[in-house]
Amino acid sequence: MRTVRIKERQERESVIVCRKNAFHAELAPLREQLLGGGGIVFTDSNVYALYRKELEKYLGGVPLFVMPAGEEHKNSETLFALLGAMQEAGLRRNSMLVALGGGVVGDVGGLAADLYMRGIACVQVPTTLLAQTDSSVGGKTAVDFGGVKNLIGAFHQPSRVIVDPVFLKTLPRRELRCGLGEIVKHGALCTPIFEKLQTNRENLFSLSFLAEIVPENIAFKASVVRQDPREKGLRKCLNLGHTTAHALELGGTALSHGECVLWGLLFEGKLAERHCHADGKFLSSLYALCRAALENGELPSVAGARLALHDKKNTAAGKVVLTVPAAPEKYELMELSSEQYERELKEIAEELC
Ligand SMILES: NC(=O)c1ccc[n+]([C@@H]2O[C@H](COP(=O)([O-])OP(=O)(O)OC[C@H]3O[C@@H](n4cnc5c(N)ncnc54)[C@H](O)[C@@H]3O)[C@@H](O)[C@H]2O)c1
Ligand SMILES: [Zn+2]
Repeated sequence: MRTVRIKERQERESVIVCRKNAFHAELAPLREQLLGGGGIVFTDSNVYALYRKELEKYLGGVPLFVMPAGEEHKNSETLFALLGAMQEAGLRRNSMLVALGGGVVGDVGGLAADLYMRGIACVQVPTTLLAQTDSSVGGKTAVDFGGVKNLIGAFHQPSRVIVDPVFLKTLPRRELRCGLGEIVKHGALCTPIFEKLQTNRENLFSLSFLAEIVPENIAFKASVVRQDPREKGLRKCLNLGHTTAHALELGGTALSHGECVLWGLLFEGKLAERHCHADGKFLSSLYALCRAALENGELPSVAGARLALHDKKNTAAGKVVLTVPAAPEKYELMELSSEQYERELKEIAEELC
């Protein structure tokens, strides 16, 4: 018998450009390259309605595919419709897909770029706060399938990420709050971000503050991804607060993912106080940040807590696995039986009311 080994391909290099006016400065020069089968622009109906004029001005004549906005369209139908449009536009192996939009467009576009001719270049232009600080960095792509979120996906590092604060101007406050969930999470893992958030606690929604903090969040997430591109270890720290966030989401709340992350950090901080060697002063500051970002939002029902067992991360039978905030830049991994987790969430919900 002979054993032949093939070294896994090197991760593609990904360049992230983050500055005012990057939308125009970085995209307009790509127009020539994108014409005649060189590329396609992919966006959603809301973003297209808001930025149609700029698209025509910077990238006029480049093939365009617009998906209906919304998570409910992050599915295989949209993916295959996009792949069909790419074929129709005559895209080749050296062509490029430009994904202009929030996390939904980024996830579907990134996956289409990974599949088309076994992989073409993808440029991400994230237009929501969540996409700018989280989903466009790291190369995770996916569509939902068979009622399961992100079931079909791939790792596909974008060749370029173009981040322009101009997009935040048209973003509804609720979408800003959604991005703040991940920003506060990053703060719990990165002290310079945490300190800036604390200093600006009354100012979290200000666009000038957000423009300042977005690059630091990108740099932080990129540093984690660089050390663990395929989520084998360290990258799991980014799950902070997320087991409970997903449990709240699965329980059928009307809150957004980011709002659930903010509540998840609050609940899991309280679990850390109960079970781990936790820094009370740090956690109080974290709670105050979560509350400021939530702006007195209503406490969601914890009735769906048992659904946390369906979370992808919970591998041990009957056990709920959590990554909880414990001290500055320090998280603890916790494991509770589903019954205990459910009971404690109910108790904590009473305390938080
Ligand atoms: N790949 C990853 O690592 C990763 C990480 C986190 C989340 N995600 C995925 O990201 C998705 C959520 O992303 P999202 O919160 O950006 O949602 P989204 O893409 O649905 O955008 C939210 C809403 O804002 C609109 N919008 C986008 N840009 C706008 C702008 N500049 N002005 C006004 N409206 C605008 C969209 O049309 C949509 O209605 C989920 O599917 C989630 O699974 C992926
Ligand atoms: Zn998240």
